[in-house]
Amino acid sequence: MIRVREPGLLTLAVLASGRGSNFDALYAAIQRQDLHAVIRILVSDNPEAGAIKKARQRGITALVLNPADFSNRRSYEEALIRALQEQEVDMVALAGYMRLVGRDFLQAFRHRVVNIHPALLPSFMGLHAQKQAVDYGVCFSGCTVHIVDEGMDTGPIILQKVVPVFQDDDEESLALRILAEEHQAYWQALQLLAEGRIYLDGRKVVVSEIGKGMDL
Ligand code: GRF
Repeated sequence: MIRVREPGLLTLAVLASGRGSNFDALYAAIQRQDLHAVIRILVSDNPEAGAIKKARQRGITALVLNPADFSNRRSYEEALIRALQEQEVDMVALAGYMRLVGRDFLQAFRHRVVNIHPALLPSFMGLHAQKQAVDYGVCFSGCTVHIVDEGMDTGPIILQKVVPVFQDDDEESLALRILAEEHQAYWQALQLLAEGRIYLDGRKVVVSEIGKGMDL
């Protein structure tokens, strides 16, 4: 079993491709001191992302790295890794980041990349998870915060929250209900990491009690 990180203030990078409501929820949790972290940088692969504007409004460094400006994925990721290392980031939170992260990136931030997915993994991986849940006819869905590994939405699960799915739900109404839970789940999972309470036992996450380490 390994401890993902020792307790202490998290220095975060948030990677987002879209509107950035999860970024905002993390920022708000830090302001309330519910999450002991500092967001060092927001990076987006999409110059039009709402998240960039939100970051700048809050005085957080925002960097656009447009893959179209790089000759290949590797050089794009090298630039990304460099930007995060310059900011001495120790955890990377993917928040609606619409790209798969590569092996070099995962090696540079081993067990230090987390993601939020709008379904109860391993159900409904990939895109349009809320639509997949509605179309399948499940009675419950939710969100998952997990450590990122080489697969898509396959890494060790830190925390999940459940919401009901109603008969008359569509993708949009379910997405809204799930989003409200995402905005709680993400900071709560990161706070467990800040407290040094997250351990990995193979692909399983074990959460230690407050103030107590685990025998390794
Ligand atoms: C969220 O539903 C998240 O779970 C998914 O992408 C969406 C991002 O929303 N990965 P936002 O940009 O944080 O508002």
